[in-house]
Amino acid sequence: MGHSFKTILVELDKKGILHIILNRADKLNALNALVLEELQQVFTEAKKNSDIKALLITGSGKAFCAGADIKELAEANGHLGLDFAKRGQQVFRELETLGKPSLAAVNGYAFGGGCELAMSATMRIASEKAQFGQPEVKLGVIPGYGGTQRLARLVGKGRALDLCITGRSITAELALQWGLVTELTNADHLLMRAEEILSGIIAMAPLAVKAVIEVIDVGFDLPLPEALQLEALHFGNTCSTEDKREGTEAFLEKRAANFKGE
Ligand code: COA
Repeated sequence: MGHSFKTILVELDKKGILHIILNRADKLNALNALVLEELQQVFTEAKKNSDIKALLITGSGKAFCAGADIKELAEANGHLGLDFAKRGQQVFRELETLGKPSLAAVNGYAFGGGCELAMSATMRIASEKAQFGQPEVKLGVIPGYGGTQRLARLVGKGRALDLCITGRSITAELALQWGLVTELTNADHLLMRAEEILSGIIAMAPLAVKAVIEVIDVGFDLPLPEALQLEALHFGNTCSTEDKREGTEAFLEKRAANFKGE
């Protein structure tokens, strides 16, 4: 990636997985303005750099991320608070709409903005030690980086209301039961499993993967007939790709497909 960052560690591996490690362990990887700025730079680069096939996001130390930086939040009045929320929402939406798969490997606390960051990734897995929560009501605010909306979409309105109103945290086990994450591993295997999942996705047809992410993202908020129309359009688009020719041919020839993203 050619940049060096102050709050995150970033490394591209040989498979094309961009490892992004939130690296303010002494502050439990809290998201301040600089973290958001650096994440945005990475997401922008990840979108345009064809060597980057997928993103893996995790945290250093005992937290994935303990949320927005409360020191900065303390300074926000009504006007600044609006900007504060919009800024985080914008950066997280860039991740969500990057056109490449991302996976949050939640190694520890994922509270507030940490939970919101994880929910903006395409997928989430967690260590058995992880905890999730939206504790903003304890601070006199509400989730502002998409938490009220993405949580309700992921786990349902009732459970989202529960977490956002009580401010309580839930275990990784309950997060799995609710569908907030799709898998748990022991802490030592978390990154290995994350890489394994992303390697599997990278081996799929990239344009089809991109289309799935987009159709589910956009279609989820549309009335069903329009969402189905959107699905059909993208299905048609994928049928005209070289990857579709390769994928179907490889199946019929009983060999592994070699997708080029064309
Ligand atoms: N913003 C800024 N700093 C934070 C932070 C946040 N969201 N979360 C933790 N920190 C800092 C602490 O202030 C402390 O800094 P210090 O050593 O300079 O005093 C350091 O990170 C370690 O946190 P600490 O509270 O001592 O760790 P803990 O293991 O006792 O508790 C938590 C862990 C996650 C339960 C606790 O830190 C917490 O409740 N954090 C806030 C979570 C939150 O409300 N997030 C939503 C923000 S909108």
